[in-house]
Amino acid sequence: MSSRFVAGFRIEDALTVAQTLDKQGLFSTLDSLGENVSSPDQARRAAQVYHRLLDAIAGLNSNVSLKLTQMGMDLGEGLAFDIVSGLVRHAVEAGTFVRVDMEGSPYTQATLDMVRRLHALPENRGHVGIVIQAYLRRSQKDIATLLADGIRIRLCKGAYKEPPEIAFPGKSEVDQNFVALMKMLLKSGIYHGIATHDEAMIRATKDFAAAERIDRGSFEFQMLYGIRRDLQRKLVQDGYKVRVYVPFGEQWYPYFMRRLAERPANVLFLARNFFRK
Ligand code: FDA
Repeated sequence: MSSRFVAGFRIEDALTVAQTLDKQGLFSTLDSLGENVSSPDQARRAAQVYHRLLDAIAGLNSNVSLKLTQMGMDLGEGLAFDIVSGLVRHAVEAGTFVRVDMEGSPYTQATLDMVRRLHALPENRGHVGIVIQAYLRRSQKDIATLLADGIRIRLCKGAYKEPPEIAFPGKSEVDQNFVALMKMLLKSGIYHGIATHDEAMIRATKDFAAAERIDRGSFEFQMLYGIRRDLQRKLVQDGYKVRVYVPFGEQWYPYFMRRLAERPANVLFLARNFFRK
């Protein structure tokens, strides 16, 4: 059932998807699934997959997305820094980019600190970026700090269960904040990603760009593999850049559960197909 959202188990499966997307004019970012590893060995093995990916995506409009807890963050920030800085160095050599995904709120500050530290090395400038979640009350301040550093941001709504002290509980507040943050990003002159399948958020982004005469090529929309393919293609036809997040690997369960939780209708959809087979 997870194949609705996951490209497959192997690197080759993700590359096949990336090549197909490339032919359709869609960019990709590849995610080797996994989080919260429990030994340095596991973290290093996870990084090896990314090193192979960075070599394999040469020639494609593709980059990689990773999670710090997969790179050993729970075992020590030093370990995660060593591993991720090795990957960013590889991305610099390969002329590509590493996006550090944002996980639950216990990791927000540590992720910001890590990405800022990596980006502060002059050779890494423009080759490592971060994700900001519009549901977090702190995000506006964080964006201001990141923009001052010139760091590329992916803006999304946020996928983890958070308490109301930390995150806006209602959809309308999250959406309102998303639009406010999107405007900060588009006005910054830095190349960012607006990651959503919400047509209202996409419309607000297009309208703001048009009103402010911001070039369609100066930012990109981002969507998840398997979600709203029709919209992905339509945006490309209309001259926008679109990047698809392509997860793959055997550790698909937490990712899959977050996708189901986002949209209860998915459970029904999957169950129906399951029983039909
Ligand atoms: P919203 O949830 O309001 O959904 C709007 C519409 O989109 C729905 O009505 C439906 O049509 C469609 N849709 C949304 N989710 C769907 C689903 N699961 N299945 C089918 N249809 C769906 N989060 C995070 O915390 N850290 C991160 O690093 C990232 N990274 C990331 C990368 C990219 C490229 C994307 C697109 C998203 C993320 N996310 C994320 C996930 C994000 O925070 C959010 O949970 C989802 O994108 C769903 O929110 P929407 O903006 O799509 O809006």
